[in-house]
Amino acid sequence: MFHYHCLNPISQVGLDGFSSLYVQTDNINDADAILVRSAAMHDLELPENLEAVARAGAGVNNIPLQKYAEQGIVVFNTPGANANGVKEAVLAGLLLASRDIVGGINWVQSERQNDLIAKDAEKEKKRFAGNEIMGKRLGIIGLGAIGVLVANAAARLGMEVYGYDPYISVDAAWNLSRDIRHIKEVDEIYRECDYITIHVPLMDSTRKMINKDAIDKMKDGVVLLNYARDLLVDEEAVVDALRAGKVKRYVSDFPNPTTAGAKGCIVTPHIGASTAESEDNCAKMAVKELIDYLEHGNIHHS
Ligand code: MLT
Repeated sequence: MFHYHCLNPISQVGLDGFSSLYVQTDNINDADAILVRSAAMHDLELPENLEAVARAGAGVNNIPLQKYAEQGIVVFNTPGANANGVKEAVLAGLLLASRDIVGGINWVQSERQNDLIAKDAEKEKKRFAGNEIMGKRLGIIGLGAIGVLVANAAARLGMEVYGYDPYISVDAAWNLSRDIRHIKEVDEIYRECDYITIHVPLMDSTRKMINKDAIDKMKDGVVLLNYARDLLVDEEAVVDALRAGKVKRYVSDFPNPTTAGAKGCIVTPHIGASTAESEDNCAKMAVKELIDYLEHGNIHHS
């Protein structure tokens, strides 16, 4: 039997069928392998026998990769396993940025004691009017599993989709999705798109890539979405641009004091991949990877 230790609640999710698995959330000192969701591992004292870490999720910025590599600890992640969950959150973000559904719901809730609500609604509804996304141009930066799913779904909703990924050729992008017009320079995305969504990993080269310079190149009234990582975006610059009317809405899945209360920001608490299905997929993939590594030495997504 393998003994696995989980650093946060993934332990309860999606592990049916793995009879050789024992899950525990405390005392990891004797662990050979760790399964982690998004808990930060930077300050974790390393168990002596640790051989592998499986991150049930895509981003690995919660793991000190360099330190682990130096100690020969293999790190896996589960790219794509939660991509559909994030895609659906992005679609919700596109719609919430375009239609004041939340404002409408809040108004009805606050007026619910009022018998005149139906009559008032006819007077009030003007202020909740919005725009349609059909026919608008969506720019996707990063054509990994999530970016491509977003592209396909947005195209089916009638959006014109531009995609940019410096690591993917035009042919590869065409094979990934016939719905994406592949753009070679990110500036073209900035210049041409009404909505821009970012789906790249956090690296030195992508840190704060959406900054004042980038925003200045964008269309007036652009809507920005960030379901990838908070540090990809210079949020002070975004809030300034919201105030100036340059950016119409900023949809972010990363709450912080800069954006939480700012006008024009729609912020959720990193729930893009928080669906039962995505958590289940990630947990199963992570466990499979670990078992395959510990039993057969096979390395996936390292
Ligand atoms: C991911 O990186 O997979 C998502 O942001 C969700 C998560 O962090 O668990």
